[in-house]
Amino acid sequence: MCGIVGYKGKNEACDLLIDALRRLEYRGYDSAGIAIWHKGKIEIGRKKGKVNELGKDVCNKEIFQGSMGLAHTRWATHGTPSEKNAHPHKAGDVVVVHNGIVENYMDLKERLRQDGHKFLSDTDTEVIPHLIMSHINKGMGFVDAVRAALAELKGSYAIGAIREKERIMVAAKKESPLIVGIGLGEYFIASDVPAILNRTNKVIFLEDNDIAVFKDGQLILMNIDGESVDRKVHEIHWSGAMAEKGGYKHFMLKEIFEQPRAISETLIGRIKEEKGQIEFDELKLPDLNTITKIWMVACGTSYHACMIGKQMIEANLRIPVETDVASEFRYRDPIIDKNHILILVSQSGETADTIAAMKEGKKNGAYTLCICNVLGSTLARDCDGVIFTHAGPEIGVASTKAFTTQISIFYLLMLHMGRKLGIMSGDEVRDFIGEIKRIPHKIQAILEQSSAMEELARRYMGYKDFLYLGRGINYPTVLEGALKLKEISYIHAEAYAAGEMKHGPIALIDENLPIVIVSPRDHTYKKTCSNVEEVITRRGKTLLFTDDMDHEMASKVEAIFAVPETIYELEPILAIVPLQLLAYYIANLLGTDVDQPRNLAKSVTVE
Ligand code: G6P
Repeated sequence: MCGIVGYKGKNEACDLLIDALRRLEYRGYDSAGIAIWHKGKIEIGRKKGKVNELGKDVCNKEIFQGSMGLAHTRWATHGTPSEKNAHPHKAGDVVVVHNGIVENYMDLKERLRQDGHKFLSDTDTEVIPHLIMSHINKGMGFVDAVRAALAELKGSYAIGAIREKERIMVAAKKESPLIVGIGLGEYFIASDVPAILNRTNKVIFLEDNDIAVFKDGQLILMNIDGESVDRKVHEIHWSGAMAEKGGYKHFMLKEIFEQPRAISETLIGRIKEEKGQIEFDELKLPDLNTITKIWMVACGTSYHACMIGKQMIEANLRIPVETDVASEFRYRDPIIDKNHILILVSQSGETADTIAAMKEGKKNGAYTLCICNVLGSTLARDCDGVIFTHAGPEIGVASTKAFTTQISIFYLLMLHMGRKLGIMSGDEVRDFIGEIKRIPHKIQAILEQSSAMEELARRYMGYKDFLYLGRGINYPTVLEGALKLKEISYIHAEAYAAGEMKHGPIALIDENLPIVIVSPRDHTYKKTCSNVEEVITRRGKTLLFTDDMDHEMASKVEAIFAVPETIYELEPILAIVPLQLLAYYIANLLGTDVDQPRNLAKSVTVE
């Protein structure tokens, strides 16, 4: 994964780069490094640990003064997290930062070794500066040497490269994201937009095999063959402040509290109430009457949103829907054809397995549609159709507002398709619209009870295992709730379809197992109430999330939390909010690194 940034301008680069790097830490944070060019010399600083550790060490030192540089925050793939494996890597006078994986690095390393090159790290990346240097040694100029080196790489890369002898910065990408930021008399490169939003909102999304050369105050764009290419400059409507904590202790908490706004913004402009219709400007779906199957494929939290989308669409439109995690889908030779729609869901639009799933769908002729939060991301660019969630930048590694906006999009998509197919009338769609418009207020009401969740967190933070139970459309809700707890508190949490409890997990129940149950009054309610009884009989600690506070169950469970009433399709969008809060407060009380939990990264751009 990893995050890279680069700067070339008139200002001191060190502080700017460290600041930008901090905003990319969600991509990886096991080690970090920086390289600053000054008058024909490059100073490198590298540290195991977070960007803050590096920051403390470098920018106050005179040797790190200079107005061009590169920086990197790492999520280890090849080589353990350590100072020697941290980027930047140097060979001769060439310095490189890299995000991606060089798949043929062993062959290249062997060849370079035979030519006398000496390697100091265990990384795949280190072959890149050596390759560049090998071409320079043969008489090539810097830019040509970078092009020649890239042509030899197999795998994925986003790189920034500088050398001591020239005041030139070169950047390039293939299958890993990289943007160019255009400021006033200054240029940036970065893995993602939020890194540089406080300096500029004008960006170019580089495409695969693009090379950007920053020289003499100018930006030159070319492809790997050296031919000039033209790329559009986009103006980003996210502000720098949106990528700040805004007074909250953690990004995750801020993002949980932003959900009413994020959902409202995702709905705006798409609801045409007078017409009883949903319109997506950006979307031209194929003729739905020819569609025989819909696939929904994603990873992590986005996959849970797919499981909810499936239930909405199958129940209301009667089109068969199959869901799969992208890492399985891509390798199981799925039976797809041109009458299928493949929906890819991804907050970042950069998850490697989800991108591979898209390619699999395209190869088989399916229409590919992505539900995505990041403008200019690979999925947003390469799918046949795209619907953006307008959640704003999500920085906390554990996804929250992306999930509830993805559910909102599935709901709107269901209505859009229902009208197109003639299955839903304008009045029916208006009724559905009425309910989703009430959702932001209902979530606000839950958020106002957050202190009750904090209290609950205090009572249960000491337990080592949790079981989560839900049925129907709330089975994915509990999968997501358990995932949140695991990700940020490191407490083991397992989610089960409530009806399956008797086939295994019931054996685990005793007074040491808290059981989180989501059970609103829908057609599965009575069945789940029986499961609650079964848990209580076995002395399990029951935490019930329901819209029925008057049921006799309320007096039997250990803890109960009221979730506002809504229609079946929207139950998860409400029920997940207290579960996000519960996980957040438990993790916060345990003192874990909530925004950057160990071993995780926000964008998983490697397999
Ligand atoms: C990582 C993140 C999760 C996210 C998943 C999918 O595992 O930590 O929060 O749900 O990737 O990411 P995507 O950007 O494709 O939604």
